[in-house]
Amino acid sequence: MKLPVKHILACAALAFGATMAAHAQQIVIKFSHVVAHDTPKGKASEFFAKKAEELTKGKVKVEVYANSALYKDKEEMEALQLGSVQMLAPSLAKFGPLGAKEFEVFDLPYIFDNRDELHKITTGPVGAKLFTKLESRGIKGLAYWDNGFKVFSANKPLHAVADYKGLKYRIQSSKVIEEEIRALGGIPQVIAFGETYQALQTGVVDGTENPPSNFYTQKMHEVQKYLSLTNHGYLGYAVVVNKKFWDGLPADVRGQLEDAMRQATAYANQIAQDENDRALEEVRKSGKTEIYTPTPEERAALKKALIPCTRRWPAASARTSSRRSTRLRASIRPSSDPRSSSAADRHTASRRTFRALQFSGRASC
Ligand code: SIN
Repeated sequence: MKLPVKHILACAALAFGATMAAHAQQIVIKFSHVVAHDTPKGKASEFFAKKAEELTKGKVKVEVYANSALYKDKEEMEALQLGSVQMLAPSLAKFGPLGAKEFEVFDLPYIFDNRDELHKITTGPVGAKLFTKLESRGIKGLAYWDNGFKVFSANKPLHAVADYKGLKYRIQSSKVIEEEIRALGGIPQVIAFGETYQALQTGVVDGTENPPSNFYTQKMHEVQKYLSLTNHGYLGYAVVVNKKFWDGLPADVRGQLEDAMRQATAYANQIAQDENDRALEEVRKSGKTEIYTPTPEERAALKKALIPCTRRWPAASARTSSRRSTRLRASIRPSSDPRSSSAADRHTASRRTFRALQFSGRASC
């Protein structure tokens, strides 16, 4: 059967109109981050993008910009607040400059022994309460994603505490980390993550600290001869969105995105350890960086050198800081009492932690 040309044109116009309408309605989320694709955060952001499109049946498109392709550390926070991007997952160490210094509690050395301890805090009332600190800044927190525990690296072996002295270290913008480096006799320098390789290569700094997944995927093993498995602190992320954008989403779409985020969070936290183990193995195989495991004595000495950072945080006033910090540590550290693993105790511990956090002034060692 031959259709009249008029009819064919009308059908084509309708189809074209439908496609245009679908595109006009599509919501685009620009998700910017600073690490490589093949890292816990890189993979989880791509997982989220896929799930979001799937669950919203294409109503939402998530564009992931990895490796500081759009913005570096500081600029990405500004871009989020201005609405130039809608979603980020900065490391918890990078919220201080925004005025949310409470997040720096995660940087305290040896504050978490393992991921389970940490998850009790991030998935409990403390994690939720920390997110409320961002709202007045136009930011909404959606989830916490793991990376891993940090290791130190340099171009000289880092065994004894004295080895750390006098070296310049690239750090994230956290006062706690800054004081931690000073406690070791080092010189801290805040440098954007995307500029770290070059800073190490050109000798602007001598060393750095990061989980192995970041170390390897930024090719730091090409410019750092020694790595010490100190696991002295945690590096994780807060996935955050522009609050106005999020609140303005249709309720059903927001619900679907929350679901996608729940699944992405489970995925992120499930792969993080493996990604770090794999990265460490790659560093080992490269033969370019010597990997050193500190002896129990060296580990104890490093802890002793760093622990003043924990004892004196949060330090709004010298008189009460030690009491506050004791409460904070007591609420985070695992108790030897087996009953402490009950949900009620976990809740109390989290509440105590937050109370300690509420006292916080400037975090320092
Ligand atoms: C990141 O994992 O997002 C970067 C961490 C850093 O700046 O060291």
